[in-house]
Amino acid sequence: MKKATFTALLSLFSMFGLAQQPANRPTLVAGIPVNYQEDSVAAYNLPRLLTCSDGQRVTSSKIWAKKRRPELLKWVEEIQFGKMPARPKAMSFNVFDKGTLAFGGKALRKQVTVYFTKDTSDWKMNLVVYLPVAAIKPSPLLLSISFAAYNQVIEDSGLLVGTIWSREGKRIKADKPSAFGKINVEQFIDAGIGFAMVYYGDIEPDFKDGIKYGIRSKYLPAGQTDVNENEWGAISAWAWGLSRAMDYFQTDKQIDSKRVALQGASRLGKTVLWAGIHDTRFKMVIASISGEGGAALARRNYGETVQHITDPSRYLYQFAPKYHSYATQLDKLPFDAHALVALMAPRPLLLQTGSTDYWSDPKGEFLSAQAASPVYQLFNKQAPATSAMPAAGDTSLLMNELGYFMHEGGHTVLPTDWAHFIAYMKKYL
Ligand code: GCU
Repeated sequence: MKKATFTALLSLFSMFGLAQQPANRPTLVAGIPVNYQEDSVAAYNLPRLLTCSDGQRVTSSKIWAKKRRPELLKWVEEIQFGKMPARPKAMSFNVFDKGTLAFGGKALRKQVTVYFTKDTSDWKMNLVVYLPVAAIKPSPLLLSISFAAYNQVIEDSGLLVGTIWSREGKRIKADKPSAFGKINVEQFIDAGIGFAMVYYGDIEPDFKDGIKYGIRSKYLPAGQTDVNENEWGAISAWAWGLSRAMDYFQTDKQIDSKRVALQGASRLGKTVLWAGIHDTRFKMVIASISGEGGAALARRNYGETVQHITDPSRYLYQFAPKYHSYATQLDKLPFDAHALVALMAPRPLLLQTGSTDYWSDPKGEFLSAQAASPVYQLFNKQAPATSAMPAAGDTSLLMNELGYFMHEGGHTVLPTDWAHFIAYMKKYL
């Protein structure tokens, strides 16, 4: 029997030090109170998506695409995630595994080293790609960004053993099983969809001051040890790495690079949302439990808030430094998470949440999708504009170009969620 896929994401909360169960939900995080009472959510006004900053009403998809989208995109980039550099000129790909049969011959496996710079001793990302052997045309693909090296989460003995970051900030061999469980790649292949994976730490480490070891440091002017206030945090760096994987896909004739979906969970759910917004070559995004800084409304003070997430003792390094200056004056922020959702339009976006993932505010994600719906509707795409919030396990809003689904359970991606993602990709990819 296949190992349960990624249920060990449950362990994320223990790893990142936050309890999930209502009984032991912390009331203070970084010394800042956390609200879990629906009736203590303060009233808020969301910035209007369909009014440009000069007052012009957005009455067509054309005005959205030409005028409103660019201004929102610029704000999200310069305030929340930070500007990232263009594709590096010196980048190169080494396809060291050119196509090996895997999974009993049903998949063709490739492994690629993506060198970000001329220096091939470092600054590289490992990428694994599985394609359905049965395909007669270039394959669509799901690119997943992972908390573990791909050899730790995929059951395939032919994989390169990568390296991961230890808690002490050292690169160590990824030769032990990870806490993140396994992913069942065959389920995608059986559905005629390719699967690719990268490890986020190959791009940038995920800890405070990790910038000195990551790709961002390569771009710092001499003598500077941190980015400027509107420049890339770690989430932008991870998103940038996903774009570099896309650069490879565009060179591979067996991949249909116009049909690539992104998936990631948690901070990597935030990452895929931002990557998909920023790089429109991605056809689809499946953002799992992205929460605060992802699809959940920032102005709704429920669970984690901008103040919690950008606290310098926590995750400020994941964002543009400037984002922190909005933590206590959210009314000044010229956008909210509904803009992040809307910036994906008209491309398919699926938001997956969990009913007991209070910290990530699943309702805040639903309200965000609802507020973004008019933008999808400008493009005549299905979105949950007037529906009520679905109950746990209710799939009625899943199969929309702007889809929303809340599983029964916590901060994780369940095997049943993967099955939903496959159905979603079959319909919209
Ligand atoms: C923390 C953080 C969340 C994040 C999560 C994760 O809980 O506060 O914003 O989504 O880690 O990445 O699991």
